[in-house]
Amino acid sequence: MTHPHSPENARPLAARKSPALTGQAQVPGDKSISQRALILGALAEGQTRVTGLLESGDVHSTAGALRGFGATLTQEAPGRWLVTGTGVGQWKSPAQPLDFGNSGTGSRLVMGAMATTPITAVFTGDASLRSRPMARVVQPLEVFGIRYEGQGEKVLMPLTLHGAGGAQAAQVHVNTASAQVKSALLLAALNATGTTRIRQDVLTRDHSEKMLKAFGADIEVTPLSEGGEVIALTGPARLTGCAIEVPSDPSSAAFPLVSALIVPGSRVELPGILLNPRRTGLIETLLEMGADIAIENRRSSGGEEIGDLVVHHSTLKGVTVPASRSASMIDEYPILAVAASFAVGETHMLGLEELRVKESDRLAAVAAGLAANGVPHRIEGDDLIVQGLGPDSSSGGVPGGGTVTTHLDHRIAMAFLTMGLASQAPVTVDDVTMIATSFPEYMDLMKSLGAVFA
Ligand code: S3P
Repeated sequence: MTHPHSPENARPLAARKSPALTGQAQVPGDKSISQRALILGALAEGQTRVTGLLESGDVHSTAGALRGFGATLTQEAPGRWLVTGTGVGQWKSPAQPLDFGNSGTGSRLVMGAMATTPITAVFTGDASLRSRPMARVVQPLEVFGIRYEGQGEKVLMPLTLHGAGGAQAAQVHVNTASAQVKSALLLAALNATGTTRIRQDVLTRDHSEKMLKAFGADIEVTPLSEGGEVIALTGPARLTGCAIEVPSDPSSAAFPLVSALIVPGSRVELPGILLNPRRTGLIETLLEMGADIAIENRRSSGGEEIGDLVVHHSTLKGVTVPASRSASMIDEYPILAVAASFAVGETHMLGLEELRVKESDRLAAVAAGLAANGVPHRIEGDDLIVQGLGPDSSSGGVPGGGTVTTHLDHRIAMAFLTMGLASQAPVTVDDVTMIATSFPEYMDLMKSLGAVFA
């Protein structure tokens, strides 16, 4: 059988210089929150009703895996799901290997969620996921007594995980700037006896903490004066199903947002975007670059801050993005590199080591894409420096004309299609199929604003 993501099924696409982008773009649900809603729903007692769920490859992979553990997940309408959980500690061993496709978040969080139940599961995925290090998750989980068999030093998939019975609470210091690692530990702590304390030096996205509270977990977050924080969770926990409303994903909104900034004459509205401060690093950076982004109607929805963005074409200038901001915009560096290509002056993006272990080595993939399209740049250690070529009207702008290798990475595909909307010659990406892992509506939505793909 041909794997759905095999090279024979690759679908190349070019984006070309487009007229002003105008209109309203309804961006689909946040991927991080959608994944967590299904996983916590599957662990909880009773029913969880999710609205605004992201209907994408990654989320569907997680839903399939959760069914394997014995939870019931039903799609009632697009974006509206009903999850009936088993209760914490009640998952059973799945009969089949779990194929997580492209989803790092789904697979890593589920490893944590099963780690303190004495069951066994086999985790696998597509070529991208099979090349990503699982050591960063399973090694910290060893404090709870898990055992595992993976491939090589990085503990690659296929990976067999044996959860532990009778796990005790633990004290863990997480020194990886990863919300996935933190979340896996928190989910494992649910079925460990006593108070687990997780210290993290870098403030990564906190959707797990917020949602665990909403499901009734005994969880407390204490900021540390020296930076970072400690999260205390007491188990064994009882989670109770609840209603979750998923806001629009800022990491997906980033693509129409930057498209509007670089295509002359554009005005685009992006309603209901998640504005959790641990996710807004890109907006902060673009505002420093001189972007005209208005945030209107700030409000709260389902325990998260949201707002409507109104974006006008802008002349951007290069800035330095400190390493301390990277966790709050970790998925946005490919699209920021594209925005920086159209800026006046250099943009210095510091502290990007985590980019090397994403769906692709994003530092290398971004650099190769910039090179293919005539944008001067350099990598110094873990920093990326892009020499902006300015808008069209100044020095001739971004040449384009290249073909970009996407390495099964949805964000590399969308970032470089964005570049093509404003470069001199079209930009081609070698495969758009992976866009469906996070933003299946991307092409239709962009075309409705006036984007030209061919
Ligand atoms: C995510 C965390 C980030 C991010 C990913 C989603 C999450 O990964 O890149 O797209 O939902 O927790 P890391 O935790 O590895 O930084």
